[in-house]
Amino acid sequence: MLVLSCATPGYTMHSLKSSMPRSTAIRSSFNCDHPFVPEVAKAVDSLYSEFRAVDNLVACNSSRVLKAFQNARVGSHHFAGCTGYGHDEAGGREALDQAFAEIVGAESAIVRSQFFSGTHAITCALFAFLRPGDELLAVAGAPYDTLEEVIGKRDSHELGSLKDFGVMYRELPLAEDGGLDWDTLAGALRPHTKCALIQRSCGYSWRRSLSVNEIGRAIKIIKMQNPDCLVMVDNCYGEFVEGIEPPMVGADLIAGSLIKNPGGTIAPCGGYVAGRKQWVDAAAARLSAPGLGVDCGSTPGDIMRALFQGLFLAPQMVGEAIKGTFLVSEVMASEGYKVQPLPRVPRHDTVQVYYLSVPCLANYSKK
Ligand SMILES: Cc1ncc(COP(=O)(O)O)c(C=O)c1O
Repeated sequence: MLVLSCATPGYTMHSLKSSMPRSTAIRSSFNCDHPFVPEVAKAVDSLYSEFRAVDNLVACNSSRVLKAFQNARVGSHHFAGCTGYGHDEAGGREALDQAFAEIVGAESAIVRSQFFSGTHAITCALFAFLRPGDELLAVAGAPYDTLEEVIGKRDSHELGSLKDFGVMYRELPLAEDGGLDWDTLAGALRPHTKCALIQRSCGYSWRRSLSVNEIGRAIKIIKMQNPDCLVMVDNCYGEFVEGIEPPMVGADLIAGSLIKNPGGTIAPCGGYVAGRKQWVDAAAARLSAPGLGVDCGSTPGDIMRALFQGLFLAPQMVGEAIKGTFLVSEVMASEGYKVQPLPRVPRHDTVQVYYLSVPCLANYSKK
């Protein structure tokens, strides 16, 4: 779970004083017989049905992962490392790609330790789609910060941003409720809009995260205007939070990081791109080089084993993270802090934000 705490100068200091005895009590009452302080114990008891629903989600996602591992005939021979060009490996890359593609409902996938991060994987996907004269349209407000230099929104000092290559960029602000602006989206595409970018998770901003069904609705609206417009979903922090993934509702490509949800806390590095085969191949050519594609790249040591193991554990780890978000949100809101998402609201990513400032007494509701 990613917990973001933000200090807001908007709350007055005297209220902070009034919250001190309670926080001190939280710290000092910890012991092994009663591992949870009373506020947390009470929240845990009250969250039984949310936790139960998460257990069902974990069971459902784990069985999808297991089935995909069986279909890819994953075995211990796939865990071996390789060096040099990486040609001489025992099918581990192919099995991992095949399993991952099935798990997310995609035609194809490339899961590699050589992706440095989510930003790198997303960049490969965007460069797969876009050519000079095309337009990239971000439909869910400003994309994650690190993409600003990739797009050329922020000066990339001629290092080769999309803008440097003649790709135009536009973004649709979010609606007042923090969700997609459906009315504007319905007429947003222009003839040269080649790719629509949808960010599933709120990332580090104070906005709603999108459900996969909302993403599916957006894709329908985009494709209705131009069936050739390709849709790329930044899937960071969203994997396994629901029982379906964006390729199942029509996303052409998704990309994300193994250092987050799908690495299951085990993967030491890496990322992925998944979706339609033609575009996964093009993203692979950005990661490596045109002509090299997906069939090379060494993975020394234990890394392949860790990637398989992490992916296998990911639904369970994500489930624990989601329970964490419910718990943090419940406790912090009951202590009067501003939280997002709100307590007991269905989760669409593993991010929980609370303002670690003084309690917002207006919202204070002791249960
Ligand atoms: C929604 C979202 N997209 C993209 C990224 C970028 O991922 P990375 O930090 O792995 O480059 C992040 C990082 O937190 C994120 O939250």
